Amino acid sequence: MINKVDIKLGRRSYEIITGPGLLSRAGEYLNELGLGKKVLLVSNAQVYKLYGEILKNSLQNSGFTTAAAIVLDGEEYKNLWEAEKLYNAAFGAGLDRNCPVLALGGGVIGDLAGFVASTYMRGVPLVQVPTTLLAQVDSSVGGKVAVNHPRGKNIIGSFYQPGIVTADLNVLESLPERELKAGMAEVIKYGIIYDASFFAWLEENMDYLLNMDYEALAYAVEKSCRIKARVVEEDETEKGMRAILNFGHTVGHALEALTEYKTYRHGEAVAIGMTAAARLAENMNFLSSSDRERIIELLLKAKLPVEIPTGLNREQLINCFYQDKKSASGKLTFVLPVKIGQVEIVKDIKEENLLFNQVSAHNEV
Ligand SMILES: NC(=O)c1ccc[n+]([C@@H]2O[C@H](COP(=O)([O-])OP(=O)(O)OC[C@H]3O[C@@H](n4cnc5c(N)ncnc54)[C@H](O)[C@@H]3O)[C@@H](O)[C@H]2O)c1
Ligand SMILES: [Zn+2]
Repeated sequence: MINKVDIKLGRRSYEIITGPGLLSRAGEYLNELGLGKKVLLVSNAQVYKLYGEILKNSLQNSGFTTAAAIVLDGEEYKNLWEAEKLYNAAFGAGLDRNCPVLALGGGVIGDLAGFVASTYMRGVPLVQVPTTLLAQVDSSVGGKVAVNHPRGKNIIGSFYQPGIVTADLNVLESLPERELKAGMAEVIKYGIIYDASFFAWLEENMDYLLNMDYEALAYAVEKSCRIKARVVEEDETEKGMRAILNFGHTVGHALEALTEYKTYRHGEAVAIGMTAAARLAENMNFLSSSDRERIIELLLKAKLPVEIPTGLNREQLINCFYQDKKSASGKLTFVLPVKIGQVEIVKDIKEENLLFNQVSAHNEV
């Protein structure tokens, strides 16, 4: 069954479509949007080999001409050099201002292609065709596009909403198990920050999800997109409430940075970060110990890591927290759960509350 989630942002409104077999219907959806007939299809070799042909055929059957631009696979290629190559590819393919850039891939491809779409000719239509669980429930929705800079991740970017998101659930079948679990961390996040009954559903259904049960996955993806859509509708450019989506990310981002993005998948680092935030919230009497326990239990059920590795240097870790965008004014700010289904943005947290027991003050990385 095909589900549609509306994201209402005035003239920038769009639909997130989830369901089976959507790759072969992409051409129809693009036709409905009335887009120009040339498409720059951005992907990597791994994903293009699996799904490029079927997507291209669908587009061609609907009267589009396609040019494929293949980027190397990996976070290290989400940069301005690759963006520059894509601008050249867009010129080469003759894209004008009404012709779309289509991102076929995970969050790396989506962020990079989205950045190019947002800047080429001051913005051309963007079509997101996410192929990882993380991209389907998170990065393709909400309009954050970016490339990395040597000084930091996602430093060069903008808010730029896609014209449509089509998340074909069948493509998840080829996803490595580790990527599936990493995406699941963000799914669990939505339950914790916004929806206690979804959290309870996840507790019941995690085994089905990890076993790729189609019905369960379809529900989890749609529900996650619906929650993200509601949050983004409230606060498109993160002036306030959208920051709740960063639950688990203060510690998560710090862990990723300190391990040079090599040790953890993003979702794994976020799982550890959500655990740390839940413990901090309990420590500050925001959260009951039973809710803290349920959070950790569910992450463990999803076979995600929950402990900060013992080898990390506590000072460096805390320094990273201060560099977090939320802590801009030199005060530690965390998104903390107050109960399952609700979080608060808590400013001015004292360092001594950060009782990350497992991190020694003296260990070196
Ligand atoms: N814009 C946002 O709001 C937002 C939110 C979260 C994360 N992100 C960004 O997303 C990126 C991470 O995205 P990701 O986790 O999807 O990683 P990714 O894009 O690197 O994809 C992970 C791996 O899976 C492979 N892959 C993708 N789809 C596949 C499929 N269907 N079958 C088999 N293999 C497949 C990819 O080739 C890659 O090797 C980061 O750069 C992060 O900054 C952005
Ligand atoms: Zn995230």
